[in-house]
Amino acid sequence: MTNRPRTTVNRLRSGWHSWLGTPHTEATERLWFDVREAHPDFKTAVLADARITAAYRGERFIFRSRADALVQIVRLASVSDAFLAQCCYRGKAHLQARRVPFVPRLLHRLAIVTGQICIGDPVVMQPGVYIPHGQVVVDGLVAIDTKAVLFPFVTIGLRSGDVQGPRIGEGATIGTGAKVIGPVRIGRGAQIGANAVVVSDVPDDAVAVGVPARVVGVASPPQL
Ligand SMILES: CC(C)(COP(=O)(O)OP(=O)(O)OC[C@H]1O[C@@H](n2cnc3c(N)ncnc32)[C@H](O)[C@@H]1OP(=O)(O)O)[C@@H](O)C(=O)NCCC(=O)NCCS
Repeated sequence: MTNRPRTTVNRLRSGWHSWLGTPHTEATERLWFDVREAHPDFKTAVLADARITAAYRGERFIFRSRADALVQIVRLASVSDAFLAQCCYRGKAHLQARRVPFVPRLLHRLAIVTGQICIGDPVVMQPGVYIPHGQVVVDGLVAIDTKAVLFPFVTIGLRSGDVQGPRIGEGATIGTGAKVIGPVRIGRGAQIGANAVVVSDVPDDAVAVGVPARVVGVASPPQL
């Protein structure tokens, strides 16, 4: 950020980054500031994730009270393969937005250990994303919209030499083993087939399969 006051905290932070050897310029600081501002509210995100997870699992997804929501969140964390890890990711993003040190790194590790979910710091994931089994890697400047579904062994990331990653549209489904790479847009409601490699834009409501992925049809609405 420009005109950042030279407070003791900022001096310490600069010294810390310089000691660690991490890049720390005004441009990178502005980038991280923007990413962290874009993260959704923690409670809203976890609640929406719980609702969509319960809905896809064919379970009750209307929560009657705060206590009921809390019970359902704890239940989903124990019965779903990846929900706990997704909560850890939400916690990481929330604490990073508040500039809490160290704990976000622990939560990131916990997300990997419990659900093999590795979602990088620059990723912004809107509330209400369904990750049924984990085994997901997402990194780079990636935006994932609400109601997206990430099946196992999905990779969403960067082309070498570029920091801008994909934008996954509302309700898009990324099939098992699919890779979505580079600054591409996956349209609203699009379905990416298992093991596809997507390197160009996919229109709204399209079905794309293969390597490289090509559009083969129109998506049917999700079976919720
Ligand atoms: C892509 C997908 C959504 C298409 O479903 P659909 O709309 O019912 O399409 P169809 O099954 O009619 O297939 C359409 C064409 O694409 C082909 N196709 C379907 N999925 C494909 C895939 N993953 N890779 C390559 N070709 C594929 C079909 O063979 C068919 O080709 P044809 O017209 O030459 O016969 C589905 O096949 C898929 O891959 N879903 C992901 C499932 C998944 O990841 N589940 C997670 C479980 S944990």
